[in-house]
Amino acid sequence: MDTKAILSMNKASWEQSAERFFGRAALPEFGPFAPTEDELKLFGEIQDKKVLDIGCGSGHSLKYMGDKGAKELWGLDLTTKQIETAREVLHSQSPPVTLFESPMEVNPGIPSDYFDIAYSIYALGWTVDLAKTLTHIHRYLKPGGRLVFSWEHPMHDRVKPTDSGYRFEQSYVTEGPEYNEAWHKSVIIHHRKLSTYINTLIEAGFEMERVIDDVALPEVVPEGDRYKWYSVEKAKLVPVTFIIKARKK
Ligand SMILES: C[S@@+](CC[C@H](N)C(=O)[O-])C[C@H]1O[C@@H](n2cnc3c(N)ncnc32)[C@H](O)[C@@H]1O
Repeated sequence: MDTKAILSMNKASWEQSAERFFGRAALPEFGPFAPTEDELKLFGEIQDKKVLDIGCGSGHSLKYMGDKGAKELWGLDLTTKQIETAREVLHSQSPPVTLFESPMEVNPGIPSDYFDIAYSIYALGWTVDLAKTLTHIHRYLKPGGRLVFSWEHPMHDRVKPTDSGYRFEQSYVTEGPEYNEAWHKSVIIHHRKLSTYINTLIEAGFEMERVIDDVALPEVVPEGDRYKWYSVEKAKLVPVTFIIKARKK
């Protein structure tokens, strides 16, 4: 399947599923079992900063940025339903809001050397072309601007629960497009090693500042935990979410 066909399949699936995700992966959260921005303070001062959200979904992370005093709120997302919801969520924000319905693999009209902060919460890994996407983001940032993003750790879906323990079911080292099991094969996500994210950032002109794959566990283990996609028991063995902070040189 070529890039266009994958994007069109993923978009169709997101249009159907969008509501399940409204506000589900949004700042100050970085994702399942990850430490939050309240603890990590990766963004530093947000007041008066121009921010860009890649895969902004329902706009809840942009709202967080607006509430923290960002000067301009920009976002893009592939899914019509997400952009429509983001417009509603952000309608009472006072800083100017600019939203694009667009895949992150193309530039829909975002200025160069403009943003202090670009970020992506559980969205960047959807890209069909990581190098192209990171090159675009690098161009949008001012020199010294920061990119912060989170995504599911590439080790997480390789390991599956069994009745007696856990089994490695898929290769960590073999990369490429895969039907995603959690989405019942209605989307394609590229499996990439953590080193591929890091090396592609470096090749795009970023300097690495932090890589975080710590696990923050809840005190209470929920009923039926073992077979949930995000399970506490499993999170004690393999990282669930990774977060990267990088700087445009
Ligand atoms: C888990 S949601 C992100 C939630 C969002 N970051 C927030 O803060 O609320 C993932 C988003 O990625 C978007 N997405 C998937 N593939 C994309 C692509 N190639 N380009 C742009 N957005 C994409 C989906 O439409 C979805 O809204």
